[in-house]
This record gives sequence, C-alpha cells and structure tokens, in this order.
Amino acid sequence: MKKIIPAYVRVPLIFAIVMGALEYFIDSGDKPAFIKYPMVALFLGVFLFLLIAIEIVVDAVDKVTYSLLSEEQKKQLAEAQSVSFADSKLMKLLTRSKDIEHEADVMLDHDYDGIKELDNVLPPWWVGLFYACIVFAVVYLVRFHVIGDYNQEEEFIAEMEQKDKEVQEYLKTAPDLMTKDKVTLLTDAASLAEGANIFKTNCVACHRPDAGGAIGPNLTDKYWILGGGIKNVFNTITEGGRSGKGMVAWKETLKPTEIQKVASYVLSLQGSNPKDPKPSEGEEWVEEGAAPAVSAAPVDSTATATVVVDSLKTE
Ligand code: HEC
Repeated sequence: MKKIIPAYVRVPLIFAIVMGALEYFIDSGDKPAFIKYPMVALFLGVFLFLLIAIEIVVDAVDKVTYSLLSEEQKKQLAEAQSVSFADSKLMKLLTRSKDIEHEADVMLDHDYDGIKELDNVLPPWWVGLFYACIVFAVVYLVRFHVIGDYNQEEEFIAEMEQKDKEVQEYLKTAPDLMTKDKVTLLTDAASLAEGANIFKTNCVACHRPDAGGAIGPNLTDKYWILGGGIKNVFNTITEGGRSGKGMVAWKETLKPTEIQKVASYVLSLQGSNPKDPKPSEGEEWVEEGAAPAVSAAPVDSTATATVVVDSLKTE
C-alpha cells in the first residue's frame, strides 16, 4: 500500500484532531479541558502513546514483509509506489490535460524561438468554479440589490441583539457575576447563616463578633461612613474602605456571592444593640424612598467629632 502521508505528519495530525474534538465537546469553561480535567490529559497521553506504538508496529511488519518478497515482487512494489499524484485518475479528472505522447494534438503553430504553445482545455475544476461564481453573483445581486433582503447595518443590529440576549442568559446562570447594581438583600436563613460564618472567619478581628465595632466601625447602627443599604455595603466590602483605614477590598478573597451573603448578614444586625458599641460614625442612612428620619444628627457627640476628623483626613 502506498502511504501518501508520512508518519511524522500523520501522528500529530490525528492527535490534533482528537484533541480538538475533545476541547469542542467537553465544556470546560475558560480553561482547556485537559488542564481542568486531569483524566482528559491522561487519556490524551495514552492515546499519543498508542498512536506511536501502532506506527512502530506497522512499520516493523512492513519491513519484515518486504524482506520476504522476491526480487520480482520488490520491483513491482517500487513501480506501484512511484505512481505520483500528478499521474493519478483524480488529477486527470480535474485537469483533463493531455498526456505527453498526445501533446502534438493540441500544439498550436506558434513558435517563439522554439518555445511552443499548447491549446489545452480549461481545467474542469476551474470552469466549475467560474460557473459557481456566476450563479452566486446573480443570487447575491437579486437578493441584496433588487429585493433588498437586509443591509449591513440591519445585520449588525440583529447580531448585537442576539449577543445581548446571550449575555442576559449567561448572567442569569452566573450568580458569581454579582455586581453593585444587581445585588439584592438576602433574607433567607441559609444565606444569612453562611454570611455569619464568613463574618466570623474574616471580619470579627476588626468589627467584633457582635459587629459592635473595634478597629472598624460599628456595623449595627444606622450610621454609615461609606453609605448604608445593600448596594453601598456590598460595594464597601468588595472595594474596601478609604485607603489607609484598614478595611481591605475583599473581592480578592471572597466571591461576589459570598460578599452578598456577608453584606446581607451585616445588615441583618441593624439595631441589634450590642454591649459597649463603638460610637456611631458617619451619617445616618435613609433608604431611598423611605421617609427621612427626623433627627439627622448622631446622638453621641464624640461621634460627630470623629466624622469631622475623618472627613478632614480624606481631604
Ligand atoms: C483589618 C480590619 C478590618 C477587617 C478584617 C474588616 N474590616 Fe470592615 N472596616 C474596617 C475599617 C477600619 C473600616 C472603616 C473604613 C473607612 O473608614 O473607610 C471598615 C468599614 C467597614 C464597612 C463600612 C462601614 C461604614 O460605616 O460605612 C463595612 C460594611 C465593613 N467594614 C464590613 C466588613 C466585613 C463584612 C468584613 C469581613 C469580610 C470586614 N469589614 C473586615 C476594618 C476592617
């Protein structure tokens, strides 16, 4: 059998096709499948090993068979293998060129200093392509210039709408893309319990287990330095407090959904009146739409002082 593709092309090619197919069919997110799933890497390794092993075995068998052939058979084999692609039936079909023996039939009588010209027919592959182009051009002309099916602008708009829809679909099932604008206050017990756990692990050192405040401010009162309400609290925890204050951006450590839970937990502590709370800091937060509170000033006078000092520091 004549081998058209040599082994050093065949093996990488088959391997690449199989690997590509795996990447295509296995949904592995933004990481390649063979990194995300070690089993895939193992499979690919074994597969490559087998491919090479098969090549070696087949080659060895070929060699043994060849050495068993008689001189006559060896000659025949060499002849069969010397048939090149240019002489093949397929090539004939595509070009309809004349054999060298019959070239005289299509020879023109032009003679340029011994250089002669053949009048071969146009290769069928070329003619076919040419007619296909004409058909395409007619269909295109009628569809877009006569009927006016759609223009580029409409195509662009439709594609953008489609993508927008896909993005919306994606966001629905990707809760970890929680953002400041999307975040909502969670009130279910399970989420709050998880929030409490996150708080216990990460936040009590500065805010105290009862959130009454130590290094960080009291989180149980109505006064907020950086704004109250789920959106602001979520944002503060995500992005951190004012620089140099000690409240880091927790987005490096916590997932957005975890931040949502701990923010909801923090807000569930509103009005819990822990013992010896840190004096209120910041301004009283009034939920949008709610009636403004009557007394806007913090009760504790030291708190007012802190606010002044704090706002001086930021300047
Ligand atoms: C290293 C100490 C420290 C840790 C740990 C810490 N905080 Fe803070 N936190 C602070 C400080 C200090 C501030 C005040 C920031 C400012 O003034 O800008 C603050 C402010 C806040 C605020 C805003 C309060 C307001 O009045 O606007 C919230 C909400 C908050 N922290 C929640 C958390 C949560 C939730 C965690 C745990 C994930 C946490 N903090 C962990 C020190 C800390």
